[in-house]
Amino acid sequence: MPIKVFVAKDYDEMSKRAAKLIADSIKNKPNIILGLATGGTPVGCYKELIRMHKEEGLDFSKVVSFNLDEYVGLPSTHPQSYRYFMDENLFRHVNIKMENTHVPDGLSDNPEKTCKEFEEAIKRAGGIDLQLLGIGSNGHIAFNEPGSPFNSRTRVVSLSEQTIKDNARFFKSIDEVPRQAISMGIETIMEAREIVLLASGEGKADAVAKSLEGPITTEVPASVLQKHPNCTFILDEASASKLTRKAR
Ligand code: GLP
Repeated sequence: MPIKVFVAKDYDEMSKRAAKLIADSIKNKPNIILGLATGGTPVGCYKELIRMHKEEGLDFSKVVSFNLDEYVGLPSTHPQSYRYFMDENLFRHVNIKMENTHVPDGLSDNPEKTCKEFEEAIKRAGGIDLQLLGIGSNGHIAFNEPGSPFNSRTRVVSLSEQTIKDNARFFKSIDEVPRQAISMGIETIMEAREIVLLASGEGKADAVAKSLEGPITTEVPASVLQKHPNCTFILDEASASKLTRKAR
């Protein structure tokens, strides 16, 4: 199945479209297993989900979530840790049960065991129904940098120079950006029954075009999504600007 592409006019429309898709999936299956993403891109989508919860009663009480990744070495109280991000940008504003939310533990003293347990928890839950993704400017998904094997599972990874630079904007200085993370692997992500990737802004246009229209290669991790049976890209105009086929 080719990747379905929706080009929204701007960030706001992209966010609302993604939130509606997620909300419809929750209504359809209240005990859905959601795979969630961090970064600047999904913030608007999470805001809209919070609004739907508060104004329309969207119910998260049975939802279970697994996040893609976490920085190694950051405690959950660090404003740039992904656990903190999820709590602040979604979890504490909706009625999801905190014990149903899973973010890899970046402070684990046995990361290998943590990764294995994370994979087991996903399996025990029944697998991810809907996985939300962003994309790095180098085509990474979660923290699977270019060169990551397609058969990778949750593991400790090193961030590429590009990603360290890209993410430095969230920290006081580039030196504070952690160099490692725990990340779901590409195979873990590909096992989700449905995948939705969001991208916004010109900085993602190259990565989006290569992922959708280029060869399937480990050099562009998101290109693997061309092999997924149920994947949708929700883009804004800027991130879609380098596509040759203008799908709507
Ligand atoms: C981060 C995350 C990814 C995210 C990407 C894009 O490094 N590990 O999961 O998709 O980079 O982030 P942003 O949305 O801030 O551009």
